[in-house]
Amino acid sequence: MSRKMLDIAIEEIKEQDKYINEINKLIKDKNLKYHIVTYGCQMNVHDSEKLAGMLETMGYTETTEQSDADLILFNTCCVRENAELRVYGNVGALYPYKQRNPNLIIGICGCMMQQDEVATVITKKFPFVDLIFGTHNLHHFPKLLLQAMDAQQTVVEILDEQGRIVEDVPIKRDLGVSAWTTIMYGCNNYCTYCIVPYVRGRERSRKPSDILDEIRRLADEGYKELTLLGQNVNSYGKDLDIDYYFPNLLRDVNKIDGIERIRFMTSHPKDLTKDLIMAMAESEKVCEHLHLPIQSGSNRILKLMNRRYTREDYLELVNDIRREIPHIAITTDIIVGFPGETEEDFADTLDIVKKVRYDSAFTFMYSIRTGTPAAKMDEQIDQKIKKERLQMLMELQGQISKEINEKFMGSTVDVLVEGLSKNRDDMYTGRNRQNKLVNFMAEHDVTGKIVEVKITQSKTWTLEGIMV
Ligand code: SAH
Ligand code: SF4
Ligand code: F3S
Repeated sequence: MSRKMLDIAIEEIKEQDKYINEINKLIKDKNLKYHIVTYGCQMNVHDSEKLAGMLETMGYTETTEQSDADLILFNTCCVRENAELRVYGNVGALYPYKQRNPNLIIGICGCMMQQDEVATVITKKFPFVDLIFGTHNLHHFPKLLLQAMDAQQTVVEILDEQGRIVEDVPIKRDLGVSAWTTIMYGCNNYCTYCIVPYVRGRERSRKPSDILDEIRRLADEGYKELTLLGQNVNSYGKDLDIDYYFPNLLRDVNKIDGIERIRFMTSHPKDLTKDLIMAMAESEKVCEHLHLPIQSGSNRILKLMNRRYTREDYLELVNDIRREIPHIAITTDIIVGFPGETEEDFADTLDIVKKVRYDSAFTFMYSIRTGTPAAKMDEQIDQKIKKERLQMLMELQGQISKEINEKFMGSTVDVLVEGLSKNRDDMYTGRNRQNKLVNFMAEHDVTGKIVEVKITQSKTWTLEGIMV
């Protein structure tokens, strides 16, 4: 970053601090509460942690009850249509709260707001919404909130262009053992079905020193596990003017004392290099789990999707990874019903799932996203066929996941304990290095520790056992 850019960035943070202080004075002693509803992926979850961090610095406290809140924020996702429909439904349902409490502030932000027309539709349909902003100006939230507190109309600020990365936004992370760090923003891949590059902008990597400093602080605060986040972490560093890429970052994070487990997501198969596989294998803290979305098993569909690898490339990659890291768990994302997907194409998807034998998979029906190339393709697939294919795929994957989990019976695994299980309060819960959820009995509170658990029962999605 040039000196001038740096000065602008520092000015901007100072300016937001000014607004934070002003709000702090305005709401002092009022005991105001906020509630954030987050949709979508971990990038949004992490953005919500930043919004919460800013709100707590202003003097708000969190409430889990929407009805109790003085400020409600919806951080939205638009990757599939049903995510958007949920947002419209849930925003509509806030009207009675607003009638009851006219001082309630309702804000909507996130990816969905970056799409053309959405802000206009919302201001027309739901004029009681106070504030709308996009993904590129999250750090302007204090200024916008202050404006909204005083405005008669909806305050709207959507920037078309991504700006530079703004560091030092306060973050309120979930207390616990595990923390997220965004290492890069945006995506340059333009898969033809996907809206993300349009709403999150082009790839921008954070500076290594900013990332490493943040992780050192997290280690000091007691976090043991760290997940490095980005839409395509493998292209980390390509936009920086130094020779420093994702494998370098992994090796450097591995050296940080206090961090015991490193995870990352998501990886694009076309950018997963031999050096990255070596860095994973060498770095003892990097967990044996790789999320490697395949999307389709058909070469014809992969080409139409602009994924830039073939099923053969993918299988070779899986072989290379398993050769270096034999017990690695591999998970994936798959779309069924992409335009033009024939029975043969879908059979290729089932076939590659059988060949790779994923530990688990997120499976989706293709959803038309206006503005993406696939939305204009002929031969959109019937909803009924999409549903049938999804069902078949889920059954196959469920069977494979169950068989893989059965192999854990009788073995002992390391579990990083998150706390008591939500469903069974006589059991603790955590994950093993392969990211499998393990529920187990323990004689004393072991939250935050890494313990050994002997597996006594295997289910399709979880394992159960006893601490040894
Ligand atoms: N950057 C990540 C994840 C992006 S979104 C990656 O490339 O893997 C998460 C998943 O949503 C994608 O992997 C894809 O499987 C799914 N997805 C994206 N757009 C979709 C669409 N239009 N319809 C259905 N699923 C979609
Ligand atoms: Fe979307 Fe493809 Fe980018 Fe993932 S890599 S965010 S699927 S465009
Ligand atoms: Fe959704 Fe935005 Fe993530 S569209 S999947 S929240 S990047």
